[in-house]
Amino acid sequence: MNTYSSLSIFLFFHLLLLPLHIAFANNATSYLPLENIALDCGANKSEQVSYNERIWTGDAGSEYVSSNDEETNKSLMAKASVINASVPDVPYMTARVFHSPFTYRFNVTPGPKFVRLHFYPTSYLDLDVSKAFVSLTAGNFTLLHNLSVSLTTEYINKPYLMKEFIIHVNGRTLELTFSPSSNASDIYAFVNGIEVVSMPSNLYIQGDNAHIPLVGHVPVLSYIHNDSALETMYRINTGGYAIPAKYDTGMFRTWTGDEEASFSAISGYYSDNLTMPIRYPKAIPRYVAPELVYRTSSDMPPFPNPLINLNFNLSWFFPVDSGFNYLVRLHICDVHPDWITKENQVVFNIYLNNQTAMGGFDVIAVSGGPGIPVYLDFVVMVPETREGKQDLWVDLYPDVRSKPQYYTTFLNGVEIFKLSNWAGNLAGVNPTSCKSESVVPVPHVAISENPKKITFIIIGCGLSLVALGGSILFFVIVYVLKLVDPRKISWRHLLILLRNKVRKAHKSSFRHHNFSMGEVRVATNNFDEALVIGIGGFGKVYKASFDGGSTFVAIKRSNPMSEQGALEFETEIHVLSQLRHHNLVSLLSHCQEDGELILAYEYMSNGTLFNHLHSRSREELPLSWIQRLEICIGVARGLHYLHTGTEHKFIHRDIKTSNILLDHNWVAKVSDFGLAKASNPTLISTNVKGSVGYLDPEYFRRHKLTEKSDVYSFGVVLLEVLSARPAVNPVEDDEHGNLAEWALYCCENGIITQLVDPDLEGKIATESFETYIEVVKKCLAEKGEERPTMSDVLQRLVLALQLQRNADNNIAPTRDGKITENTDLERNSDLTPGIEFSEIMIPIGR
Ligand SMILES: *[C@@H]1O[C@H](CO)[C@@H](O)[C@H](O)[C@H]1NC(C)=O
Ligand SMILES: *[C@@H]1O[C@H](CO)[C@@H](O)[C@H](O)[C@H]1NC(C)=O
Ligand SMILES: *[C@@H]1O[C@H](CO)[C@@H](O)[C@H](O)[C@H]1NC(C)=O
Ligand SMILES: *[C@@H]1O[C@H](CO)[C@@H](O)[C@H](O)[C@H]1NC(C)=O
Ligand SMILES: *[C@@H]1O[C@H](CO)[C@@H](O)[C@H](O)[C@H]1NC(C)=O
Ligand SMILES: *[C@@H]1O[C@H](CO)[C@@H](O)[C@H](O)[C@H]1NC(C)=O
Ligand SMILES: *[C@@H]1O[C@H](CO)[C@@H](O)[C@H](O)[C@H]1NC(C)=O
Ligand SMILES: *[C@@H]1O[C@H](CO)[C@@H](O)[C@H](O)[C@H]1NC(C)=O
Ligand SMILES: *[C@@H]1O[C@H](CO)[C@@H](O)[C@H](O)[C@H]1NC(C)=O
Ligand SMILES: *[C@@H]1O[C@H](CO)[C@@H](O)[C@H](O)[C@H]1NC(C)=O
Ligand SMILES: *[C@@H]1O[C@H](CO)[C@@H](O)[C@H](O)[C@H]1NC(C)=O
Repeated sequence: MNTYSSLSIFLFFHLLLLPLHIAFANNATSYLPLENIALDCGANKSEQVSYNERIWTGDAGSEYVSSNDEETNKSLMAKASVINASVPDVPYMTARVFHSPFTYRFNVTPGPKFVRLHFYPTSYLDLDVSKAFVSLTAGNFTLLHNLSVSLTTEYINKPYLMKEFIIHVNGRTLELTFSPSSNASDIYAFVNGIEVVSMPSNLYIQGDNAHIPLVGHVPVLSYIHNDSALETMYRINTGGYAIPAKYDTGMFRTWTGDEEASFSAISGYYSDNLTMPIRYPKAIPRYVAPELVYRTSSDMPPFPNPLINLNFNLSWFFPVDSGFNYLVRLHICDVHPDWITKENQVVFNIYLNNQTAMGGFDVIAVSGGPGIPVYLDFVVMVPETREGKQDLWVDLYPDVRSKPQYYTTFLNGVEIFKLSNWAGNLAGVNPTSCKSESVVPVPHVAISENPKKITFIIIGCGLSLVALGGSILFFVIVYVLKLVDPRKISWRHLLILLRNKVRKAHKSSFRHHNFSMGEVRVATNNFDEALVIGIGGFGKVYKASFDGGSTFVAIKRSNPMSEQGALEFETEIHVLSQLRHHNLVSLLSHCQEDGELILAYEYMSNGTLFNHLHSRSREELPLSWIQRLEICIGVARGLHYLHTGTEHKFIHRDIKTSNILLDHNWVAKVSDFGLAKASNPTLISTNVKGSVGYLDPEYFRRHKLTEKSDVYSFGVVLLEVLSARPAVNPVEDDEHGNLAEWALYCCENGIITQLVDPDLEGKIATESFETYIEVVKKCLAEKGEERPTMSDVLQRLVLALQLQRNADNNIAPTRDGKITENTDLERNSDLTPGIEFSEIMIPIGR
């Protein structure tokens, strides 16, 4: 099976590698807001600063605060005590601090408004930031209640916080009242910036005219009251990069990129066509979403064998507050004009929170053609639970029953809004910090949906197929029956593992904790040799325990004699501070004292991949083939991110099994960025660095460094993983000594199976093995340009994993491409729509 040649059909799929600045060719003038207020709280009115192409005005002395309120010391102006280079000056460096209720009044036109609040958690006026608990009301709505900005930013792992609400103003004033959430004298509230921006009246809430399916209640449609308040939870440009506020369609919305979203579970295959014209149909105004959102999509990978896609959902998960209803908007646009142009080519099912939201969604049938966007709205109820937060899942799966030409799905963007409940409340609970993890948080706002307040309106129209002309949405509601039961390959479990991992990282209160040399000495028992867990060129690595043994941290201590060490120390900090990915080890902190250089990393309890392959203890089981593939996939994801995911693309230069660490869930993380370099295609490096056995021969000969050098080294890692032999073995003779050379020799002579680790013998499915060997050979190609990109490698490895899982589960795809369970499907197809239901309309929100 020559898998690479079949891949060429999908050549136009390539990752979005364009630098950010080329990408925005969007005409942002599509909506001109009547009100566009940007307040820099705690600054004087005369201070007008331009930030993100808007003028921010100080609030002191402005028409929005009453001078009476200001003079009576209800609030105080303050400056941030800590300036952080990664936090913009405006509006974050000044704040208004409240010790009692304080009201901002905005005279605006009636209609819905965006209200955005900006917070930067640091000490103001020497107050303790952990004592800041903000409550905020707008008219009868509670927008925030007891919000701890510091706990929230720690949870989302960002230095500052923006909250966006949509408030419907009925009269002519919008009042925002801030107050500390308790009367205790040390509790206070603060805010750094406030935006009020008007928006098209029917952008998100179409009132009683909108018919929004209520997920999980198939015949039930709902509408959102036109005076409900909404909070934006997520707005994501799936398959693409972040779109900053100034490139939005005039409303200054911020779209998060997929790459930084930790909640994209299976990171799909990105496709994009940046020259493709986006044709907004009449029903969809241009301001709904920027073209860039529609031009990039996250797809199921274009595997040569389409049946593989039936093994998993394309999924995302979003942590949300329990006990609320959510409006979920999915943006979909076909950017594959070369192969998806007709109806019934791509048909998929949409699941929200494990329930069918829509079955048989045919992209082209609904949109009318490639490049024409559509969006779909759903309301999802997230029940109250004892945990304050839970995940909202978005799953897409090919609709096998309608026998589409391609088994694939894609998504271009997603927005999720929390809807105010009957009491007008939108506030959730604070995320729990690591320390209070054992305490089950009880939601402090004990307001749950009151069923009596929901009125049911029965619309006695026996439609099972509703096409709403005139309205923006087209719904084809199909009562989807039992789902296709593809072998339940536990991708989901894999994801849950990954997600828990991400969560743990978020919760770690240790992050960004700055410590002193003294603390490090205590934590490492004065650099006790018994605690050494690794030795590198830079120095020794110790297992340090903090918080009385509840938190472990890996401490890397430089060798004070080594000049090289100091250089690598700087490089490592420089590189790692720009990266964030769950397959790259996180730098928690660093310190430089008494001529000592210390780096602190998350502690990886399962040690290095090298140890598991070559110096495993007797009791320990060898890694299974699936485990090994998962580890390689993790490393490939990390490298792919390194090569493409940031503005400065990096080359690691020292990929080897001893630099691959495994955490307690066996998630692989690439470490040791001391040799990493920003990619610069024109640069000839004078100084070739790397490790013997892994070094790219082309780089060695020509001194020309590209991403492909990492691909070569990764190829050697793949060989090591397969064979459990070290990359260089000084004991063996020349021929066997260098693993890469010996493997290529074996390939040429058809004795490649000799390479396989005896522990894996008979346990690898042939197709999986062939796919894997194919990747290895490509990675080790003589010339860099002949080697695949990490994204190609990643896909082939995912394929190898899928093939292994299929073999383990005995799914035998037959030659004509039919799935073996087809008989079941046929039987079920009697249950197609046609059954008459009454639609029930229920109002959501208040
Ligand atoms: C944006 O659209 C407006 C109105 O449609 C048009 O006048 C303007 O020239 C466009 N600007 C750009 C940069 O395309
Ligand atoms: C605001 O102006 C007053 C005088 O008008 C001045 O005393 C104060 O320092 C200014 N505040 C800031 C934050 O610049
Ligand atoms: C407001 O606070 C300032 C200093 O903190 C104090 O001098 C002033 O008397 C206070 N004014 C009122 C009305 O409490
Ligand atoms: C708040 O609710 C009361 C009673 O429900 C209503 O009369 C009033 O207009 C509401 N105020 C606002 C600002 O919506
Ligand atoms: C600034 O924020 C970044 C990102 O959260 C953090 O890593 C860094 O420690 C902060 N710097 C300071 C001086 O607080
Ligand atoms: C705070 O004080 C106000 C009046 O001083 C009182 O009405 C309110 O009940 C108090 N709130 C709490 C939570 O104690
Ligand atoms: C909101 O809905 C009510 C009826 O439910 C209607 O009277 C009112 O005009 C609507 N307001 C707006 C701004 O659309
Ligand atoms: C992008 O879209 C344009 C217009 O539909 C099409 O001509 C072109 O082939 C597409 N490019 C790719 C790489 O798909
Ligand atoms: C896809 O998601 C749906 C809904 O959560 C679930 O029922 C189904 O089992 C999933 N399919 C696969 C292959 O994981
Ligand atoms: C999804 O729903 C099915 C059937 O209701 C249930 O068996 C399964 O546990 C659910 N999965 C998740 C992850 O909630
Ligand atoms: C506010 O939140 C904090 C942290 O989550 C919690 O400890 C405290 O009890 C809450 N206070 C109130 C008044 O709800």
